[in-house]
Amino acid sequence: MNTELLFERILEDVYNQGYAIIEQAMEPGLTQQLYTTARTQLSKFSPAAIGRDSELQLNNDIRKDKTLWFSGECQSERDYLCVMESLRQLINRQFFLGLFDYECHFAYYKVGDFYKKHYDAFKGRSNRVITTVYYLNTPSEGGELIIYKPRSKEVLQRVSPRAGTLVVFESERFIHEVLPAKEERFSIAGWFRKNASIGGIIDPPK
Ligand code: OGA
Ligand code: MN
Repeated sequence: MNTELLFERILEDVYNQGYAIIEQAMEPGLTQQLYTTARTQLSKFSPAAIGRDSELQLNNDIRKDKTLWFSGECQSERDYLCVMESLRQLINRQFFLGLFDYECHFAYYKVGDFYKKHYDAFKGRSNRVITTVYYLNTPSEGGELIIYKPRSKEVLQRVSPRAGTLVVFESERFIHEVLPAKEERFSIAGWFRKNASIGGIIDPPK
């Protein structure tokens, strides 16, 4: 899909429903390179943490995946960040959200790994505004992303991870979870952020 069409669909769907699910969002070649970049660095991944700064904790009951923040050292990472930077600017022009930054990491779920129901941001307590998830491989089963209707236990969307599918949603609005992986699962989770002061600390580190 060309970027113009991709961005048009993201903006329209996020505007109308708060989320967008787009298959074959980027060049298969780029997706493949990102997958290779992630896989070859697997030894550098570390257990994912929850919360930030002093609250940072490993919580094996909530999530089991391993993550690696982008270093920007690989061309594929820079290509991906370039797409997200264009999207950031477009979102700012259209929605006046004042997003100043995009941060992202690779995520790896081995068989059995999951991420239970959570928000990526809590109202007024985080500067994460919009979440993106990009899938790098296609497990034949398991590892579905479940997005729930706001203030409800009803399932809104059930997304099977497929290489090339991009999910975008408002971070404060949707509780979501990742069901246990039945095959290895690679993805990139990212967040557009606004400049927010939290407890007097401006732009706390990731
Ligand atoms: C996350 C997350 C969803 C997915 O990393 O916060 O919710 O489908 N990921 O990988
Ligand atoms: Mn999440």
